[in-house]
Amino acid sequence: MSVLMVSGTGTEIGKTVVTSAIAAAAVAAGRSVAVLKPAQTGVGPQEPGDAAEAVRLAGPSVTAVELARYPEPLAPDTAARRSGLPTLAPAQIAEAAERLSLDHDLVLVEGAGGLLVHFDESGNTLADAARLLGAPTLIVAPAGLGTLNSTTLTAEALRARDLTPLGVVVGSWPQSPDLAARCNLADLTRSSGLPLLGAVPEGSGTLAPELFRASAPSWLAPSLSGTWSARSFLSTWSPPTFVPTGAPSSPAGV
Ligand SMILES: Nc1ncnc2c1ncn2[C@@H]1O[C@H](COP(=O)(O)OP(=O)(O)O)[C@@H](O)[C@H]1O
Ligand SMILES: [Mg+2]
Repeated sequence: MSVLMVSGTGTEIGKTVVTSAIAAAAVAAGRSVAVLKPAQTGVGPQEPGDAAEAVRLAGPSVTAVELARYPEPLAPDTAARRSGLPTLAPAQIAEAAERLSLDHDLVLVEGAGGLLVHFDESGNTLADAARLLGAPTLIVAPAGLGTLNSTTLTAEALRARDLTPLGVVVGSWPQSPDLAARCNLADLTRSSGLPLLGAVPEGSGTLAPELFRASAPSWLAPSLSGTWSARSFLSTWSPPTFVPTGAPSSPAGV
């Protein structure tokens, strides 16, 4: 796996923090990493974008590339139209990722918002770039109520396009997870049919970069260069299964 698309169920759900963690874990494992943010919206010309944030957190060895920047915090196609700037075609995204993969072991491509946000006037999305690249897509998902539907919809949208959903990473695992978040750990896998590949603790994005880098492998599964175990995470957090008192042990007669 040399190119990985990092998408998610929406905006502000932790794609950049998860991308940074994957980059940090890969660097710690001795791999060279590039982060490609094809379309950066909602930041001014001098402000750091998501790719720069990944370098800040994961370290200066990471290459950051941005292809287009639009000032308004909108879908790339809308932001481009409103600012009179050119849109990005999926081929441009794929070419940039392929070029980076020539001299990096891992290229992380962070989408804008959720999977089906339009990048151009033809309605092309990150999924179209993933198809050109033949790259798997990671789904970053929120922990709490509502995530089962949006994560499963994203997984289905990928499968409907003959793309490969790699798995799910929880973008921000609360310090005090509520019942929904705890139940979702098992239900996310059941509902989406995808493995859980990590959970980045809430607040991680505000850690000192050195601590972020040292901790990142413990948030991610071995397939993402980490040491995190879904099994032990679930055994820590999943609520006990309800066994009704006095109920028959098998559902005979049902
Ligand atoms: N695990 C986390 N630790 C700290 N802050 C987080 C975490 N996940 C998300 N955030 C914060 O929430 C906001 C959105 O996260 P971000 O990774 O930028 O989401 P996205 O890239 O999906 O829009 C940011 O301000 C970020 O710092
Ligand atoms: Mg982001």
